[in-house]
Amino acid sequence: MEFAIHAEGLRKRYGDHDALAGVDLHVPPGTVLGLLGPNGAGKTTTVRTLATLVAPDAGHARVAGFDVVSQPREVRRRIGLAGQYAAVDELLTGRENLVLLGRLLGLARRPARRRAAELIAAFGLEYAADRTAKTYSGGMRRRLDLAACLIARPHVLFLDEPTTGLDPSSRLLLWQLVREQVAQGVTVLLTTQYLEEADALADRITVFGKGQVIAEGTADELKRKVGDERLEVSVARPDALQPALAALSRVAAAPPSVDESARRICVQLADGLGAVATAAMELELAQIPVEDFALVRPSLDDVFLQLTGETATGPTGGDGPAGPTAPAASTTPAAPMQGAVS
Ligand SMILES: Nc1ncnc2c1ncn2[C@@H]1O[C@H](COP(=O)(O)OP(=O)(O)O)[C@@H](O)[C@H]1O
Ligand SMILES: [Mg+2]
Repeated sequence: MEFAIHAEGLRKRYGDHDALAGVDLHVPPGTVLGLLGPNGAGKTTTVRTLATLVAPDAGHARVAGFDVVSQPREVRRRIGLAGQYAAVDELLTGRENLVLLGRLLGLARRPARRRAAELIAAFGLEYAADRTAKTYSGGMRRRLDLAACLIARPHVLFLDEPTTGLDPSSRLLLWQLVREQVAQGVTVLLTTQYLEEADALADRITVFGKGQVIAEGTADELKRKVGDERLEVSVARPDALQPALAALSRVAAAPPSVDESARRICVQLADGLGAVATAAMELELAQIPVEDFALVRPSLDDVFLQLTGETATGPTGGDGPAGPTAPAASTTPAAPMQGAVS
């Protein structure tokens, strides 16, 4: 088996709206693909299609070596799906939830209890294992949800916005748990609105816009697409701006841009570190009073904004019945897809 997830030309239409307008995905085993995109871009529809919950109108996909349309049972046996809406029974304890799922998946009672205990320990839920799930915090619930979809030791894990609305420490913990799965060889497809989440977890990132793949690559590749590193130099006095500009122009790959009110010059350098050193020397030789000297890389925020022209607070395609709603802003540690370009 070459790819753990292999989709080609996936299409899904709802009414006269293309939720998926021809999607290709190739995810090697043991890697994490981050699916990034604004609300309504088709992330959940993609996940649901690959998890055999939605039948595509066209195209085909193989997951863990099996066709999602003609071999759904084989696929289901090898995948785990955790969504923003936890599939947790509120009235059962954490342990009961896991044991029940194990039983439903065909485990005998003893192995089901053993697997539940194993996951409870691995996910740091021992102290709450015998409390009803309705007493769990959001972070604990997500952990239980993730544990639940690992019962049958899936080869491929689908995580649809797994940390939306979580506080920072719960988010970090969940990232750690996901990394542990990947270290064990599990393939993960993760949708997210958090650029830093994709940056932190994903080997490769696919950016979705309006049901289509609009960009693909590693975080670094995507950042490079938007532009190379640039040097930002702020001077201490307004009268230093012109001589600084003259000095920096000697190492610039393109005409520098000047922000007079911030007394800042932004310059694209010709080549890596050498140019940075030369720029510093030119400024020193010209005795420019430099206040700040920084090499700035484009962020994934820049990438996202440039590719989709959208921010989380900007216009969105709306949310489908299957899609989660926007995260509660008060509980999110970092604003997803901030519009500000640094
Ligand atoms: N069951 C459905 N019926 C009708 N429209 C849907 C359904 N599911 C999704 N859609 C629409 O398909 C588009 C993609 O939705 P979705 O995959 O949920 O996006 P995302 O997860 O990226 O926010 C949206 O415009 C949404 O309204
Ligand atoms: Mg969604």
